[in-house]
Amino acid sequence: MKKLKICFIGIKGGISTTLIAGIFKSIQENRRPGGLLTDTALFHGCDLCDMTDFEFGGFDIRGIDLYKSALENDQNNILNIRYNEELRERLEAIPVYKGIITNGGKTISDIADEGFTDDRPQMADMVDEVRSVLREFKGDDDCIVVNVASTERFMKTNKCHSSLERFEQGIRENSSELTPGQLYAYAAFMENIPYINFTPSICCDIPALFELAEKRKVPFAGKDGKTGETLVKTVLADLFFVRNLKVNMWYGTNILGNLDGKILDDSMHKSSKIESKKNVLKSCLGYETDTQVRIDYMKHSGDNKVAWDYIHFSGFCGANMTLTFSWFGIDSFLAAPLVVDLIRLVNLAQKRGEYGIQKQLSVFFKSPVGVQVHSLVRQYDMLKEWVEQK
Ligand SMILES: NC(=O)c1ccc[n+]([C@@H]2O[C@H](COP(=O)([O-])OP(=O)(O)OC[C@H]3O[C@@H](n4cnc5c(N)ncnc54)[C@H](O)[C@@H]3O)[C@@H](O)[C@H]2O)c1
Repeated sequence: MKKLKICFIGIKGGISTTLIAGIFKSIQENRRPGGLLTDTALFHGCDLCDMTDFEFGGFDIRGIDLYKSALENDQNNILNIRYNEELRERLEAIPVYKGIITNGGKTISDIADEGFTDDRPQMADMVDEVRSVLREFKGDDDCIVVNVASTERFMKTNKCHSSLERFEQGIRENSSELTPGQLYAYAAFMENIPYINFTPSICCDIPALFELAEKRKVPFAGKDGKTGETLVKTVLADLFFVRNLKVNMWYGTNILGNLDGKILDDSMHKSSKIESKKNVLKSCLGYETDTQVRIDYMKHSGDNKVAWDYIHFSGFCGANMTLTFSWFGIDSFLAAPLVVDLIRLVNLAQKRGEYGIQKQLSVFFKSPVGVQVHSLVRQYDMLKEWVEQK
């Protein structure tokens, strides 16, 4: 029986450790983890892998051990990891490899620990190393690379990204334009392994990697998981659209205090997230509105994210009205089931012989690559159609 090997980029982070510990605990307690879209009736009869088939490994750049990181990340003690010896043993047995930080941005280099990154001078050697790790990790099983690493600094796409030939030339020349997320994606595609980009970083959404994914016939999906404020926004925006209520202003602010928030506190990295969040309203409403999105790092908040949105809208005879909402979500626990769904569905797409960008998975993302539709309900319909067509 084939396993499904899952290789996380950023395996010591909040999302990975929550997902892994949450799955181990659910298996231990013989129950479903909850919150999985792929556990609903729509997917009955689909050839989906189960969480008992998962095996984990991944890359990171920090020295903290995986078990300790899982303990720290479960700050609300939902998983009760500390007193679970079996869980500890399983977490400690997971292989962790040295990550790449070249060109990821100073704030990411600052959290990296000496001896836990690949610091060879040649980019080509780093890529070869990632490829050989992936090859060995995969063996004869199915495998998926999932990028849940810290958000990289915002970078415009350029010449190096424009074709596979130029990308490979960039690797040979140690180009400062190629980022870790892109190099991991390149390595995965070269090993015929699908890639999920859950981060807002620009990874496989460049022509060079589109080309490689098509050439190698590998599926990929991205980007930036839709778990919180944007999720609510893409439902409420439909409400205004369907009632033809004019949105005059939409202000949204997010407060978080986890490691993700700390990285996003650097304006170069925050831009990647803001870019990813800001496009949704125009697509849902059909017009530009006066909008602002803020993200603030407040350490005390930890993984308990707060979003507060304040909306001005007008209707019949110009009557002005207001809507506000507050969202209190535990970031990693919102993200983990989405990542599990994505893993199962990208694996299903590969089994169905599909490759390239998986547009039907846009319902999971803030910035779905290659899709202009942001309405949650319309995105769900796209997924439903894909599931039912086979
Ligand atoms: N609800 C959510 O939590 C959510 C939603 C959408 C998107 N995201 C994105 O998902 C990503 C992960 O979120 P998180 O909360 O788990 O973050 P985190 O900060 O807890 O974890 C990130 C991990 O990546 C590691 N890392 C950083 N750069 C790396 C590299 N180049 N190679 C290997 N490892 C590297 C870090 O050491 C850390 O362990 C972030 O980019 C975040 O913006 C999160």
